[in-house]
Amino acid sequence: DSAEPKKLQLTLAILKPDVASRPHIVEDIHDIIQENGFFFVATKHLHLRRADAEEFYKEHHGKFFHNRLVNFMSSGHIWAHILAREDAIAHWRKIMGPTKVFRTIHSDPHTIRGRFGLTDTRNVCHGSDSPKNALKEIAFFFPEFNAEKWYREDEPYYH
Ligand code: TYD
Ligand code: MG
Repeated sequence: DSAEPKKLQLTLAILKPDVASRPHIVEDIHDIIQENGFFFVATKHLHLRRADAEEFYKEHHGKFFHNRLVNFMSSGHIWAHILAREDAIAHWRKIMGPTKVFRTIHSDPHTIRGRFGLTDTRNVCHGSDSPKNALKEIAFFFPEFNAEKWYREDEPYYH
């Protein structure tokens, strides 16, 4: 067998309040995630307090959309998932589609944001943008999850 073993990577995915309260859309997105070869490593359904949403998005403090973003992210329940796949970080961001939905619906209509997004803020989903941020964001939502141990021990290869 010439297939190279593939190394799994973890990323943090969020389904935001615009879709998290709509079960049929959540189901569709979970199907897309599985069809793309991701494993669900851990899942939480939770409602962020405003202060937690501010902390999570503190890199965007001071930007014109920050207040709107933080209000939105604390406006209802969300789904937080730790996903595993080869190139999980880049692949999840690829199938999410670009941030700004008013453009994405034209440029990338078959992505998750292109299909389900409403506005630049109500844009369906979040994905970590680097390995360092993935670890930080996983620790934010899953403080009890030991990512280092997962990478060390949890059979990180498949064929
Ligand atoms: P950003 O990290 O730039 O995008 P992404 O989610 O693709 O990593 O921005 C974080 C969130 O802030 C974004 O998902 C939605 C919101 N946002 C706006 O509401 N308006 C904007 O113009 C931008 C850039 C982001
Ligand atoms: Mg971002």
